[in-house]
Amino acid sequence: MKIHENHSLKGLNSFGLAVRARFFCELRRLGGLKSVVQWRRQHPELPVLLLGGGSNLLFTADYPGLVLRVRLQEREVLGSDGEFVYVRAGAGEDWHAFVRWTLEQGLAGLENLSLIPGTVGAAPVQNIGAYGVELKDVFYELQALDWRTAELREFRLADCRFGYRDSFFKSVEPERWLIASVTFRLPLQPQWNMAYAGIAEQLQGAEPSALRISDAVTALRRSKLPDPAVLGNAGSFFKNPLVSPSQWQGLKKAHPELPGWPQPDGPVKLSAAWLIEQCGWKGRREGDAGVYAGHALVLVNYGAATGAALWQLACTVMTAVQVRFGVALEPEPLVLPRLPCRHEGGVLPG
Ligand code: EPU
Repeated sequence: MKIHENHSLKGLNSFGLAVRARFFCELRRLGGLKSVVQWRRQHPELPVLLLGGGSNLLFTADYPGLVLRVRLQEREVLGSDGEFVYVRAGAGEDWHAFVRWTLEQGLAGLENLSLIPGTVGAAPVQNIGAYGVELKDVFYELQALDWRTAELREFRLADCRFGYRDSFFKSVEPERWLIASVTFRLPLQPQWNMAYAGIAEQLQGAEPSALRISDAVTALRRSKLPDPAVLGNAGSFFKNPLVSPSQWQGLKKAHPELPGWPQPDGPVKLSAAWLIEQCGWKGRREGDAGVYAGHALVLVNYGAATGAALWQLACTVMTAVQVRFGVALEPEPLVLPRLPCRHEGGVLPG
């Protein structure tokens, strides 16, 4: 397998940042893994970054190690147990293309997750979610390679420890596993999930179907979120924060308009977009780094922003929300490296 040196990542990250990888290679077949593992053993000091669609990443500097772009392609309907159909996809498949392919096979279950940027292999890492559905709801198992032994292991639902934009692969063992394929469990008798504001309106009274819901979700996302091919971005830049019920009571008293959703296990999820908008940051820009005018949760690169400038803007937004509401925001994408936040001459904890 060919290892390139000093490779440009500009077309490989959805912010469109002009950064470079010290080493870069593409994995197109599982058979190629052995030679990457061998190369890695010869360079134990170098970090390795697994790259899918590059849509959940902010590079604040060039990458000092090996970037391995996973391009494993595979789509297969494995069979049915009478209740579910099992479908496997290679980690390198484009997520939305795969979703539409399942719909073309007459299968439902992934329609609410339409148009999410990225790859199939990246989807479980942060348990992608939208419009009332999360990946974990349709997940059956995945195959991942252990970098230390070069062996493949199967992970079932409980092994993945899925949480809100979180998983075992993101928080517990982020460096160890290379996801090779994911198997989905799609219901033969689907229940349409149309509770989210806007989906039913998009259908305009038409009988729901997986394809129609996918089209509705696609239209909704296009109306709210910028297309990374046109304006560099990584979707929601911040997670919706969780606060305790007592903090929620206090905030709600002071700001009756604040949207919040009590979670089954106790805490209340707040709208980060609302908090940011109230702080006056929606639509503002600092040079070519900006907060998108159409949705306050999205940071955008108007062309020549650096990752460091985007990160400093994120720091400023997080500080503004902390000072005004006493709520800590957390970035959703991986920030590489996560620089300390500079603030008015002082340094805030990053
Ligand atoms: N809102 C504002 N200002 C804005 C935008 C939204 O005040 O500029 C408020 C509105 O009150 C709205 C509420 O925020 O009712 C929620 O907004 P929205 O429906 O757009 O959802 P979100 O919570 O901002 C989350 C996900 C999105 C996902 C949508 C739809 C996170 C971090 N983001 O956004 O996921 O598409 O719900 O399910 O959970 C992503 O992860 O990259 C992503 C785009």
